[in-house]
Amino acid sequence: MSPEAPGIGRRYLNETRYRRDSLGEKASYPRVALYKEYPDAVRRIALQADPGLPGDLWDCLRRRRSQRQYQTRPLRLEELAALLWAAQGVSFSSRNYLLRTAPSAGALYPVETYVAVHQVEGLAPGIWHLEVPDFELALIREGDARRPLTDAGLFQSFLGTAGAVFIWTGILNRAMWKYRERAIRYLFLDAGHICQNLMLAATALGLGTCPVGAFFDGEVEELLGVDGREEVALYLASVGAL
Ligand SMILES: Cc1cc2nc3c(=O)[nH]c(=O)nc-3n(C[C@H](O)[C@H](O)[C@H](O)COP(=O)(O)O)c2cc1C
Repeated sequence: MSPEAPGIGRRYLNETRYRRDSLGEKASYPRVALYKEYPDAVRRIALQADPGLPGDLWDCLRRRRSQRQYQTRPLRLEELAALLWAAQGVSFSSRNYLLRTAPSAGALYPVETYVAVHQVEGLAPGIWHLEVPDFELALIREGDARRPLTDAGLFQSFLGTAGAVFIWTGILNRAMWKYRERAIRYLFLDAGHICQNLMLAATALGLGTCPVGAFFDGEVEELLGVDGREEVALYLASVGAL
């Protein structure tokens, strides 16, 4: 690609290419905590890890579709736990790493998972954060998020009729201290892996999901209470009963 490529996207790809003679620019960024925790959460709930549910991978690959129409029945807590485990469950622990169901560049896991709970049995409506090491959900903002989330998602109504909406953010310095500007590529690749895990698991459970990349970034970030500079909104996925 020519260095004069027009547009910020092409310029970004060009400037973050690895070449034999250069592994990129030398800017440096601080290292930040590997796990985000909300010690002052309104409430927390432990989830059941590794649900061990049946489901044929090939069948799920064939059947997965973006679904935007849901039944009104609430999601069950076990269903949400299974989806969270598929998305970001710890499947192997070693001394320094908690390896997850989805791969991550350098095992840095810069993607954080939040869930806007609209209708899930046993969970208050609001914004919950997945606390990965303990596989717990922490309630960080109580209240009905259907309207603000739908508005933030370019008024896509299924963001309000879903039982829950997964929201993924990226903590930039968690990956940038190592990969510098190229880390931004990896953030989105990580989020893609996570979302596909979620969609295949939802298919296995007979639930509908739809990935969502169209949203007003600032409004989603405000709903979560993240700053939009060091932690930015990346991707959403609705989940509902079919
Ligand atoms: C990165 C990305 C962003 C997307 N954003 C939206 C969205 O904002 N709204 C929506 O209804 N569908 C969205 N989709 C779903 C696509 O429209 C859908 O995947 C595509 O039409 C193919 O259909 P399928 O998923 O059923 O195979 C998105 C998909 C991806 C991968």
